[in-house]
Amino acid sequence: MLCSSSKILKFAFKSDTIVNMSRPSSDLAKFKQKVKESKHLVILTGAGVSAESGVPTFRGNGGYWRTYSAPDLATPQAFSTDPSLGRVGMLTKLPNPAHQAIAACQHNAAKQNRKVSVITQNIDELHQKAGSTDVIELHGSLFKTRCTKCHHVESNYESPICEALRDKGTPEPGAGGANIPVNLLPRCSHNGCGGLLRPHVVWFGEGLDENILARSYEELESCDLCLVVGTSSVVYPAAMFAPQVARRGVPVAEFNLETTPATQQIGQHGFFFSGPCGTTLPEAIL
Ligand code: APR
Repeated sequence: MLCSSSKILKFAFKSDTIVNMSRPSSDLAKFKQKVKESKHLVILTGAGVSAESGVPTFRGNGGYWRTYSAPDLATPQAFSTDPSLGRVGMLTKLPNPAHQAIAACQHNAAKQNRKVSVITQNIDELHQKAGSTDVIELHGSLFKTRCTKCHHVESNYESPICEALRDKGTPEPGAGGANIPVNLLPRCSHNGCGGLLRPHVVWFGEGLDENILARSYEELESCDLCLVVGTSSVVYPAAMFAPQVARRGVPVAEFNLETTPATQQIGQHGFFFSGPCGTTLPEAIL
C-alpha cells in the first residue's frame, strides 16, 4: 500500500531527526588519509590526554586528586580555604606522547600551509609544554592569575605563589586547609592595583569567557576534520562541539579508553580509536 505523501514526509522528518546510530569506523589507514588531506584540523582535548602524564582525570578510574575530588578543589570555596591546591602537583608534570604528537602534527601542518587548532578543557598547560601554540584554554590555566579587582591576567609559574604558602597545599592524605590570613595572600601588582589574585581558571559553576568561546566556535565552524581526545563529553559546552561538527558532515575521530555520549553522535562518517591516547594518537596523526 502506497503511503500518503504526508505520511512519507512525516517519516522523512522523523528519520532526519533520529541521531545517526551507526557505529564510527576504526579504519586507521582511512583516517590517516583524512589527516593528510585535511586543510584545517581541530583537536579538542580533555583530562584523558594528560592521564599518562600522571594527572588524574576527574571521572575516570583514580579520577580523584589523591584524597580530594577535583570538584572539591576547583571551587571558590576550596580556594579560599586552601589557595595553592592543584598548582604544586601540576608544576612537576611533563607532556606525554599524546601531547607531543599533537604539537608535532600542528608543526608539520604549518610547514605545509595547513592549520591544526588545539582546544583544551585542561588547565595544566601540558600542550604548551609539548610545543603546541595558540592553544585555546576553555577552562583557563593554573599558571595564570587573574586580579579579583582589576581583572588583569598574567602568567605565573612561581611555586609557592606567595611566601605564606611555602610547604602548604600538597594534597597529602589528611592535609588540613592552609588557612592563610587574607593579608598574606598574593596581591595584584598591575599598575599598583593591590587586588587579591585568584587562579585564572573556570571553577565549577562559573561561566566560560565569551571571547574564548567565540574563538572556539570559529575554529569548529571552519574545520574539515575534528579529533576529540580523552574527554568524557559530559560537560558543556565542550560536550556539544563534536556533535556540532559531525552535523556539518565533517568527520570526527574520538580517541578514548571507552565510548562516550559523543561516540554515537559522530556516526558513520566518524572514527573511534580505543586505547590510551599516548599510544593511539601518535600512530594516527604522525
Ligand atoms: N587515553 C585516552 N582517554 C583516556 C585516557 C587515556 N590514557 N585516560 C582517561 N581517558 C578518558 C576517560 O575514559 C574519560 O572519558 O578521558 C576522559 C576523562 O574524562 P573526565 O575526567 O570527565 O575529564 P574531562 O572530559 O576533561 O572533563 C571535562 O569537566 O570536571 C570538569 O572542568 C573539568 O575540564 C573538566 C571538564
